[in-house]
Amino acid sequence: MYLLHALVVLVACMDRTLGRAIAARDPTPAASTTYPIPSVLTPARATSPQFSQSPLMHSTYTVASRADYGKMVDPSNNYTLFRDGGGSCAIANRTLWFFCDTLAYRTSDGKYMGAASNSISLATNFSEPNVLKDASCTPATGIRPAMPWTSVEATVAGSPTNRYALWSYTNCVPTGDNTAVHFWIVTKFNSGSSTRTYGNTMAQYSLDPTTNQFTVTRDTQVTFAPPTYTYGSFANVVVNGVAYLYGLDTKYSKNDAHLAKAPVNTIADLSTWQYYNASSGTWSSTMPVPTARQQSAAVIRNSIPFSTGTVFFSEYHNAFLLVFLDNWADSKFRVLSAPSPVGPWTTNNLVIWAMTPGPGGYDYGGVAHPIYYTNDAQAGKSLMLHYSYQNTSTTYTVASQLTFA
Ligand SMILES: *[C@@H]1O[C@H](CO)[C@@H](O)[C@H](O)[C@H]1NC(C)=O
Ligand SMILES: *[C@@H]1O[C@H](CO)[C@@H](O)[C@H](O)[C@H]1NC(C)=O
Ligand SMILES: *[C@@H]1O[C@H](CO)[C@@H](O)[C@H](O)[C@H]1NC(C)=O
Ligand SMILES: *[C@@H]1O[C@H](CO)[C@@H](O)[C@H](O)[C@H]1NC(C)=O
Ligand SMILES: *[C@@H]1O[C@H](CO)[C@@H](O)[C@H](O)[C@H]1NC(C)=O
Repeated sequence: MYLLHALVVLVACMDRTLGRAIAARDPTPAASTTYPIPSVLTPARATSPQFSQSPLMHSTYTVASRADYGKMVDPSNNYTLFRDGGGSCAIANRTLWFFCDTLAYRTSDGKYMGAASNSISLATNFSEPNVLKDASCTPATGIRPAMPWTSVEATVAGSPTNRYALWSYTNCVPTGDNTAVHFWIVTKFNSGSSTRTYGNTMAQYSLDPTTNQFTVTRDTQVTFAPPTYTYGSFANVVVNGVAYLYGLDTKYSKNDAHLAKAPVNTIADLSTWQYYNASSGTWSSTMPVPTARQQSAAVIRNSIPFSTGTVFFSEYHNAFLLVFLDNWADSKFRVLSAPSPVGPWTTNNLVIWAMTPGPGGYDYGGVAHPIYYTNDAQAGKSLMLHYSYQNTSTTYTVASQLTFA
């Protein structure tokens, strides 16, 4: 059954209003913030995403075992946080975690303390993926977002019904030892009666490893606005210094992913981006204008719609994998594979894990974290996943780990 209408929380990713006229954008877009974060080192082994011409290995994607770690939580935070979505970011030998709408309650008596559109935490130990160190929404930091608002966004940021939201359901793009970019969907809620997705915004991260000062800068309020595909908001993978940035066609097909690429060291300069046409197999510096006819240009044309996913190179499979949740709200992690970021991608939508959803309904916001290679030196044999779990009162993120046979 097609349950798109039920995906209330994912409305930012799936917004049906994408094709409508866009409201005037913030004329004073520059937004930047710097704040200290705890220093918790979790150096990730660099992947070596080099496709070799040898055949795909372990292509059945059978899961041999699974470890469920439960709610991702900072046991030292005196606020209990409920939140959803998000992704991880390997930067300066730290693993930063970002989440969407975050509600904070005082643990001692359950008192509601406030909410933020997003929040930031750090991984503490790849072997304990449920244990985080919160870097915002704590008694010490106050309840504040991890991402900076533009001035116009900030004027309504405190209102629960008439506000902007910056939400991400993907991992960041590493661009250097201490830098990364990360794509966030920009949504506005109007008096509780309508929502409008403005597109996505590129947040540029920089972490000073000696002072632990973390800086987030948004050069423009919106980087890719409708009807353009929101490149980078679905998934990304970096190969040989080039970032491949996937965006969904949310208007015409809801099934297809389109692809752009940019050198990581010039990624903030949109003039260095190129856009892939899978029909001709060619790259162009001209950004395509989406229409129904451009479906043949999609790099992944799929039979079921995507909601969230992760692309990475699995040494174990000798293949690029797309691990994803569809938007049928059936709580199933699935996998597609390809010999390169441009495909050809399989279309068989193999289920690798049919989850048991919580009493509040389906699980959503499923993302894979290929930097967590805890069980095996071979990247991709074991795979850390996180997703948003709903019970009848609230939503929180949960960590699990699959090991392929
Ligand atoms: C957290 O709560 C404990 C127990 O109430 C208290 O001892 C501690 O000082 C609190 N820590 C912070 C950072 O508020
Ligand atoms: C990360 O750790 C590695 C190994 O300990 C070290 O060589 C490198 O300089 C570190 N990088 C940063 C940015 O701290
Ligand atoms: C990380 O977690 C593992 C498993 O719980 C534990 O054995 C190890 O001591 C932890 N490492 C650190 C540095 O705390
Ligand atoms: C993609 O390539 C096909 C085949 O060459 C062409 O018909 C189509 O116009 C191209 N689409 C774009 C967006 O350039
Ligand atoms: C939902 O889960 C949270 C976290 O485990 C818990 O505090 C809360 O009581 C649960 N609510 C219900 C209705 O089960």
